[in-house]
Amino acid sequence: MSAEKFEPFALELYPEDLCRRLEQEQLFGEVPAVLEIDLGCGGGRFLQTMAEHFPDRNYIGVERLLGRVRKVCRRCERAGLQNVRALRLETTYAVEWLLPRSCADRVHLLFPDPWPKKKHHKRRLMCQPVFLKSVADLLKGGGEFLFKTDHEEYFELAQEAAQLCPHFEVVPWSEQDFFYAETDFERQWKEVGRKIQGLRLRKVKL
Ligand SMILES: C[S@@+](CC[C@H](N)C(=O)[O-])C[C@H]1O[C@@H](n2cnc3c(N)ncnc32)[C@H](O)[C@@H]1O
Repeated sequence: MSAEKFEPFALELYPEDLCRRLEQEQLFGEVPAVLEIDLGCGGGRFLQTMAEHFPDRNYIGVERLLGRVRKVCRRCERAGLQNVRALRLETTYAVEWLLPRSCADRVHLLFPDPWPKKKHHKRRLMCQPVFLKSVADLLKGGGEFLFKTDHEEYFELAQEAAQLCPHFEVVPWSEQDFFYAETDFERQWKEVGRKIQGLRLRKVKL
């Protein structure tokens, strides 16, 4: 029986070795550019809009569901974008073990699953003790981590986690500060009148 050769999508970031941290050049080649990483990117509306708006920046979406990774690749390929890659992987593994240290200018966590049941609270990324430290390791000095949610309780816990984390300072964030694309979930929650809250954290030198 011959094994079929697996072909990743053209815009898929497909590491040959998942046990070895990637080098910066393995992401988009040698040419330096601003890099932004969207954790749990879903179907990729945010990635596509940002990549079109900032063609000189590079974007990586991390997403664990194959169907959504496929969607990101298709929509960005159709739009002719060369500055997007999708990585099909679990966020904490990608952040902690796979992506190069100090590679990103901005990391986004937008409308992550809020895990409302008490027994699942420990799955909330912002409530995991190593998560913010791993995000800080991923960022360049002065880089930023941007978080948005429609979930009141999750937002409060995220604020507490940020205040306790020595690697970040909280920075004011208003809509006029810079162009920031809407995500699929943001659009959906706005339509039903949910309150959206955001947190902007800047990596500090220790
Ligand atoms: C609520 S959706 C939000 C999607 C997108 N950020 C948006 O705002 O439209 C959360 C997404 O994160 C993905 N996700 C959840 N936990 C993840 C994890 N641990 N690693 C990678 N992706 C994850 C889900 O599959 C889903 O696509």
